[in-house]
Amino acid sequence: MCGIVACVGRAQAEPVLIEGLKRLEYRGYDSAGIAVLDSKGLQVAKAVGRVRVLEQSIDGDDRFIATMGIAHTRWATHGGVTEANAHPHMDDDDRGHGIAIVHNGIIENHAALKTWLTQQGHVFRSDTDTEVLSHLIGELYDGDLAAAVRAALRRVEGAYAIAVICEKEQGVLVAARRGSPLMIGVGADGYLVASDTQALVTHAQQVASLDNDVVARITGEGFVTADLDNAPVTPRLQELELTLEQIELGEHEHYMAKEIAEQPVSVGRCLRGRLKVNDGRVVLGGITDQARAMVRAKRLVFLGQGTALHAGMIGAYLVEDLAKMPTSAEFASEFRYRNPIIEDGTVVVAVSQSGETADTLAAVQEAQQRGAMALGLVNVVGSSIARTTDAGVYLRVGPEIGVASTKAFLGQVTAATLLAIYLGRRRVMSESQASDLLRALEGMPEHLAKVVDDGEHAKAVAERFVARDNWLFLGRGYNYPVALEGALKLKEISYIHAEGMPAAEMKHGPIALIDDGMPVVVVATRNSQYRKVLSNIEEVRARGGHVIGVVTEGDEEAASLCEAVFTVPDVPEPLQPLLTIVPLQLLAYHAAVLRGHDVDKPRNLAKSVTVE
Ligand code: G6P
Repeated sequence: MCGIVACVGRAQAEPVLIEGLKRLEYRGYDSAGIAVLDSKGLQVAKAVGRVRVLEQSIDGDDRFIATMGIAHTRWATHGGVTEANAHPHMDDDDRGHGIAIVHNGIIENHAALKTWLTQQGHVFRSDTDTEVLSHLIGELYDGDLAAAVRAALRRVEGAYAIAVICEKEQGVLVAARRGSPLMIGVGADGYLVASDTQALVTHAQQVASLDNDVVARITGEGFVTADLDNAPVTPRLQELELTLEQIELGEHEHYMAKEIAEQPVSVGRCLRGRLKVNDGRVVLGGITDQARAMVRAKRLVFLGQGTALHAGMIGAYLVEDLAKMPTSAEFASEFRYRNPIIEDGTVVVAVSQSGETADTLAAVQEAQQRGAMALGLVNVVGSSIARTTDAGVYLRVGPEIGVASTKAFLGQVTAATLLAIYLGRRRVMSESQASDLLRALEGMPEHLAKVVDDGEHAKAVAERFVARDNWLFLGRGYNYPVALEGALKLKEISYIHAEGMPAAEMKHGPIALIDDGMPVVVVATRNSQYRKVLSNIEEVRARGGHVIGVVTEGDEEAASLCEAVFTVPDVPEPLQPLLTIVPLQLLAYHAAVLRGHDVDKPRNLAKSVTVE
């Protein structure tokens, strides 16, 4: 999705902004732009396509020498992918004040505002909702940019994160947010604004997240924050904990490969300090205050989108199985709009890597308004969902950059497992049952180290089947959401059509698709439904499908039914998804590489979907 980076201070702005944009590229975008400001006025450049195209277009251009500016990567929502629609957007040439703005989010009342501004004589040059904001700020400008921004935002409906500069106020950068993330970075050479901490990593030591409806006025000397009525707000500065090593590729060819390989370590980090194996206890500091209410809850509803929902589905199975509580898992986007019934004692569990997914955030708010307690299983510390929920478990898997989520999925499933054991132990599980599961969980990083190392084999399997355009993924029980996630991984990055489903469902329609040579990936590990899955494999084979199996180490019987086999160590059934997903991640990765796709930046996708 869109990305913002802006700066004001002593350093040359252009290299800082371009570097920041490059660090935001992973979020997904289709065009980019930059505006710098010095005493000669605004200089603006835009380009369709990659940031490097923009960089080349201004390389060596003296006009872009300045110490403040704003920059943007755009993921089109209103208006096509054109230079005119790329940000920054300006107010009018003739009657304007030289205002330039970059914006993430959507201005919902843009049509009404545009009509009014057109009546006031403003002339629009793009099809975007953002340009409405630049004209509105221009219309309300009366010598104080921060005041004009506050006045404009009082009239705006929707979500936004913005950074604004004005030719008449050299050295002043104004930033504000509602709904879309935005933060201020404090560095040795000045101040930065960004929609994502990664854009700050080389230039800021401290960071302050802006709250909703807060406007910051930033200069090279410092910044002040106030609400939309100009009442002062005290910012909370924190050390920036991100390191360059965490967000650089190192020896890996793609972030996705790096993040798959990191999973033994990242799951270990998620578990660290949380397991008291000998006394069968899980320690989750972020939910201690709500523990009693959680244990007495009548229902847990897991909410998420994409990969996060698949993790939520596993979470729902886990809590039902281990804590014996009624659960469900739903698309947050459906939940929020279908007038859901929230009974007393309902807890919603928002699952999200970014903590910024618009639908998940809105679903949490809807549930809270109806009296539900909300819990977050979130990776990004201080993100909107983390701040909105009443309690939470951080995933602690580190920054995830590949658009196709891998280590965050494992973090989400690990956190959900911890939650289920935490609740289970307080409700129905004996100490020794809990101890046994925790011991198995403790061994997970070691098991994972074996399965992530299966890359060469995954590549060989991918080579055999990559030419096929339609694949099925089957699983039962805990491995049913794994089948969904395996299919999602494959389609996201290799653009192969893939469908995941419960293995039993195949007979109710999809079996008609199976013909000679169709790859069918079946998760067939030893568990309570093992025999049933083997029968499903036979049904596929009888129709000429090629079975790629994920089976338990040493299981010759299952292996003998498959044309290609991945093995995973034997672990208790509730923990199996943590291992069975890994071969499917590797398979998808190699299929995409073999098809020659840009694995980390798949077409049309965004890392974090902050619009509905
Ligand atoms: C986007 C990403 C997916 C992700 C989903 C939910 O669609 O491309 O990989 O699973 O959003 O994101 P979240 O940040 O809430 O986990």
